[in-house]
Amino acid sequence: REEKEALVAKIKEQLRRQNAVLVAHYYTSSDLQELAEETGGCVADSLEMARFGSHQDARTLVVAGVRFMGETAKILNPEKRVLMPDTRATCSLDEACPAESFAEFCDQHPDHTVVVYANTSARVKARSDWVVTSAIALPIVRHLAERGEKIIWAPDKHLGRYIQDQTGAEMILWPGTCVVHEEFKAVALKRILRLHPEAAVLVHPESPAEIIALADVVGSTTALIKAVASMPHREFIVATDKGIFHKMQQVAPDKTLIEAPTLGVGATCQACAECPWMGMNSLQSLLHVLETGEHEIHVDPEIREKAVLPIRRMLDFAE
Ligand code: 13P
Ligand code: SF4
Repeated sequence: REEKEALVAKIKEQLRRQNAVLVAHYYTSSDLQELAEETGGCVADSLEMARFGSHQDARTLVVAGVRFMGETAKILNPEKRVLMPDTRATCSLDEACPAESFAEFCDQHPDHTVVVYANTSARVKARSDWVVTSAIALPIVRHLAERGEKIIWAPDKHLGRYIQDQTGAEMILWPGTCVVHEEFKAVALKRILRLHPEAAVLVHPESPAEIIALADVVGSTTALIKAVASMPHREFIVATDKGIFHKMQQVAPDKTLIEAPTLGVGATCQACAECPWMGMNSLQSLLHVLETGEHEIHVDPEIREKAVLPIRRMLDFAE
């Protein structure tokens, strides 16, 4: 405990000295989420994280999350220094969508509008017409479908299929998945539901269709947190990364949160729904980058110039 207090004090001092502000995703550790809030930064979903940096006077943005979040911050704020606790923190969706093969694929369908999830590299964003996050994907695709546009969607096939079901849009889906949400198991979830029949099931739309079919609420991390605070239920079964439990417990301390199972019936699993790359963010790695300036995000200016357009389109639409 003393060690943690000393670490936190050093980080606070560095943030102050370097005119830096910390923004953390809901999947990072409780320590980082608390620190971000205590020091005037914020804890947020990917859409709010993208918005946050532009409204800050701070010269340095420290982004605790995965690499695409740091890149988006840099693309929107090229004049600021953007640091991450570890720039090697990738995302299986980003990895599943290499820029060159994606560009070739798009070239084969020139009459399609290219919509990419924020969980992609700057190069993939640069090849897109729209960037979306889970919080805004549905209304944007609905808007495009109403205009009669055919869509290439990448990279999350589960989210793509959910949006397709909801909007009826004509979409070609890239076959990426999230390693965390892909693991939720419907048979085991049904069993837990039988044990907790009054519980509401909250599901992030990166989950497979059979999990989404059991949901009371499907939505972004922010939407799921709001659901815990606003729904009358006492118990919630939550199918997303367990980092989110910190904020959920904060907004609804008297409610019971149950992890959706990631293993079949009978198997036990400790903290399975935990993104390994989000886990690379720690107080230690944060202090290290603040002291050394390592793990700074750079984006090629030519790529940045193209990638900023679909990101801004999303932010303008969201306003
Ligand atoms: P949100 O945009 O809902 O925060 O989700 C980001 C993410 O990586 C989910 O796995
Ligand atoms: Fe990517 Fe999944 Fe981790 Fe989110 S939880 S950052 S989608 S690997």
